[in-house]
Amino acid sequence: MVFIDNITTILGVTVFVILVIRLYIKITQRFAPVENCAMEGRTIIVTGGSNGIGKATVKLLAAKRARVVIACRNVEKGAATRDEIIAATGYANISVKKLDLSSLRSIRNFVNEFKQEEHRLDVLINNAGILAPARKTITEDGLELTYATNHFGPFLLTNLLLDFMKQSGPGRIINVTSVVYAMGNIDFDNLCAERSYSSYTIYGHTKLANILFTRELSKRLEGTGITVNCLHPGTVRTSLLNYRPELKIISFIFGSLFWKDPEVGAQTSLYLAVSGEVNGVTGQYFDNCRPVVPSAKARDDGVARKLWEVSEKLTGLIQ
Ligand SMILES: NC(=O)c1ccc[n+]([C@@H]2O[C@H](COP(=O)([O-])OP(=O)(O)OC[C@H]3O[C@@H](n4cnc5c(N)ncnc54)[C@H](OP(=O)(O)O)[C@@H]3O)[C@@H](O)[C@H]2O)c1
Ligand SMILES: *[C@@H]1O[C@H](CO)[C@@H](O)[C@H](O)[C@H]1NC(C)=O
Ligand SMILES: *[C@@H]1O[C@H](CO)[C@@H](O)[C@H](O)[C@H]1NC(C)=O
Repeated sequence: MVFIDNITTILGVTVFVILVIRLYIKITQRFAPVENCAMEGRTIIVTGGSNGIGKATVKLLAAKRARVVIACRNVEKGAATRDEIIAATGYANISVKKLDLSSLRSIRNFVNEFKQEEHRLDVLINNAGILAPARKTITEDGLELTYATNHFGPFLLTNLLLDFMKQSGPGRIINVTSVVYAMGNIDFDNLCAERSYSSYTIYGHTKLANILFTRELSKRLEGTGITVNCLHPGTVRTSLLNYRPELKIISFIFGSLFWKDPEVGAQTSLYLAVSGEVNGVTGQYFDNCRPVVPSAKARDDGVARKLWEVSEKLTGLIQ
């Protein structure tokens, strides 16, 4: 009997703790105050818009009546996402274009096609990202796959689109990074995992690189009317962890209990893309629709500049 009593007590306390945490997460979540912001006539690119936070972002932007271009590596999946959003919102100005961020050639093709077919670019949301391929993988360009997808690819994409964006007037660039940046560091001798590869830590490195880039780029764009900010979306129930079976289980358990829905996780992306409150705000790191000061290593301008120069060379932006 005592045994059963104990079990009941433990279960009761566990359920109570779970409920309290869920309540806390719910009441501290902020929603982008963008009711009065119209985006008609604006064109927005969302990389990785076929899934997860990116897909939710596309849906929220469609509700604001922006033209949205889903840039994704799997165009069939992108088309299915587009059709689903059109069916749900009744809004049809959404298109799908092929972009594989792990291939510099694919990025150049995407940009050429985009410039030929589109009239303007107002917002670029660098959302696509991958986490933890189990084994080190080197891309056709000789770059490590995680770094290529999360950093070098968006670096080249952003730089190739800058001129076109400037022609459209004030613009915004938004980088989806992660709090996991705090576990990262920039080791210039190991950027392509030449010396060692750890699938988990490399994700943190690339997310730190995103914040450093935001800083460096914001300096380079001073006076152009283009702002650049980055954000942590929160912990969100998506396919990000599905690369690895062991993470899939964690993702399933914690995801069902505590993690945010993609629509909630997309709030800070939406806020930065649409809200008038962030007009002219640049070079910042946001969490839960608010600017946050990241740790010292994410504010190291010397490292940011050096990483920029290395990235220019490795992506062939300058020869
Ligand atoms: N989920 C979280 O808790 C969390 C927390 C912090 C930060 N983030 C960040 O949020 C962003 C979005 O992730 P998510 O959680 O929404 O994950 P997700 O569901 O896995 O979505 C990632 C998207 O990126 C795309 N992608 C992957 N590799 C690509 C490539 N080489 N070229 C073009 N697109 C590519 C994927 O396309 P496919 O559909 O073809 O795979 C997918 O659409 C990432 O930058 C991630 O680091 C997420
Ligand atoms: C879609 O949006 C773009 C950019 O605002 C606009 O030029 C175009 O006419 C729109 N297309 C349709 C079919 O509404
Ligand atoms: C976003 O990050 C990518 C690479 O991480 C960088 O190339 C790009 O310039 C950054 N853009 C912003 C907005 O910082």
